[in-house]
Amino acid sequence: MKIAVASDHGGYELKEKIKRHLIECGHEVVDVGTHSTTSVSYVDFGHRACDEVKNGSCERAILVCGTGIGMSVVANKHKGIRAALCTNAFMADMARRHNDANVLVLGARVLAIPYAMILVDVFMSEPFDGGRHLERVNQIAKLEEDFCE
Ligand code: RB5
Repeated sequence: MKIAVASDHGGYELKEKIKRHLIECGHEVVDVGTHSTTSVSYVDFGHRACDEVKNGSCERAILVCGTGIGMSVVANKHKGIRAALCTNAFMADMARRHNDANVLVLGARVLAIPYAMILVDVFMSEPFDGGRHLERVNQIAKLEEDFCE
């Protein structure tokens, strides 16, 4: 799968580890930055990664900031993006199976690195359940059509 990754300075170290892990697992990774621990705005980098998904260049994205909150707020401003801020494996599982989340958001100051990797693996491997959940995802798309530019 082709996947965009992004972080701010707070998420840089975890983003780098996720990137390496995804490549080792055979995925193609587009790293839109940031590329150091110098302080930057999560808004810029979250937006870049979501654009990659929105324009069809990447299938999914993984975003990391300190808490994950800023990145998830930014990501969910994008039409067609269903970003899930997850703090445990159950949430990552449900984000895929019930919400068809196409963006995983993690807080680097919230999760231990090995546990964050488990969430990444769940997000990358679990399918969407469809059925009644598809109807709800379609409802979200309709809301976007009706209320977002
Ligand atoms: C940066 O210090 C921090 O505010 C950011 O990484 C994130 O937690 C924002 O939601």
